[in-house]
Amino acid sequence: MKEAGILFVPAEYGHFRFRASDAIISGMAHEHPLTSFTDRLIVGDALDVLPQIPSASVHLVCTDPPYNLGKDYGAVVDRKAWDEYERFTRAWLAECVRILRDDGSLYVFMGVRFIARLYAILEELGLLFNGWITWHYTQGTGRTIGFSPRHEDILYFTKSTKYTFNLDAVRIPQKYYRERNNMRGANPGDVWTFSHVHYSNPEREAHPTQKPEALIERIVRASSNENDVVLDPFVGSGTTARVAQALNRRYIGIDITPAYIAMAERRLAQPFAGFDSVDPRAQRRPRDIPGKHKVSSAD
Ligand SMILES: C[S@@+](CC[C@H](N)C(=O)[O-])C[C@H]1O[C@@H](n2cnc3c(N)ncnc32)[C@H](O)[C@@H]1O
Repeated sequence: MKEAGILFVPAEYGHFRFRASDAIISGMAHEHPLTSFTDRLIVGDALDVLPQIPSASVHLVCTDPPYNLGKDYGAVVDRKAWDEYERFTRAWLAECVRILRDDGSLYVFMGVRFIARLYAILEELGLLFNGWITWHYTQGTGRTIGFSPRHEDILYFTKSTKYTFNLDAVRIPQKYYRERNNMRGANPGDVWTFSHVHYSNPEREAHPTQKPEALIERIVRASSNENDVVLDPFVGSGTTARVAQALNRRYIGIDITPAYIAMAERRLAQPFAGFDSVDPRAQRRPRDIPGKHKVSSAD
């Protein structure tokens, strides 16, 4: 497991905000070597920091950006006019596409209000569609008029047709023993159930939109290999960086709110004691089909 590294930007630079004009290594040109960023948590506006990361250098972008639903994130309140939010989204995504290696993959979380426009932007930026994953959660706010929301979505695109996908690393147990089933496990499909990290969970951080680690774990295991670089430009409480660290990937985490970067740094300095969430299907044991003989317990 790698140790956390944090990049502190001098206080006189806009309250710890990293700006494009503030070189990480003084005297360097626009882009900096990848090693200036890897295994670092960076305080700054993604739109300022991303342009400094070298082109075609990152294997996986996995990010959960602000959804423009009015959350207070400390350094920013997440409420823009939708057209402005669309310009913001296009701008940071264009940078991610530039930074992504040709064999790289990109996963972006989004709420239902913007997911359709996000899909169109990703196609316009020249990425190739690979999957639309629905994250279904079992608890959340209840509506008294209309249906209570119980999912968010993750769009999965690649930069080319050649990309990493480690299916064996993310298989889940089959439901039944069956001759035609691969008893090493099933593909987890594109509807994933993970509960939120509950407020009573000791792993819960004081961040309003912390994501479950096992959800990110599946993405990182499937779409990267050990020592690959995983970028999250909206790292929040540090979930993506924590998972990358635990799985021996290199990470780059950016967030505009200094308190969240400090939170993520503390989190990454803790010994790793296992992921804070689990897909209930990952715990099932294959059963005999009622009325049929068991075929085999192993592939
Ligand atoms: C949805 S949260 C990410 C939560 C994260 N996945 C976790 O598990 O904790 C979005 C984050 O983006 C950050 N943010 C908002 N605008 C930003 C910007 N322009 N640049 C970088 N970070 C930004 C917020 O501070 C917030 O922590």
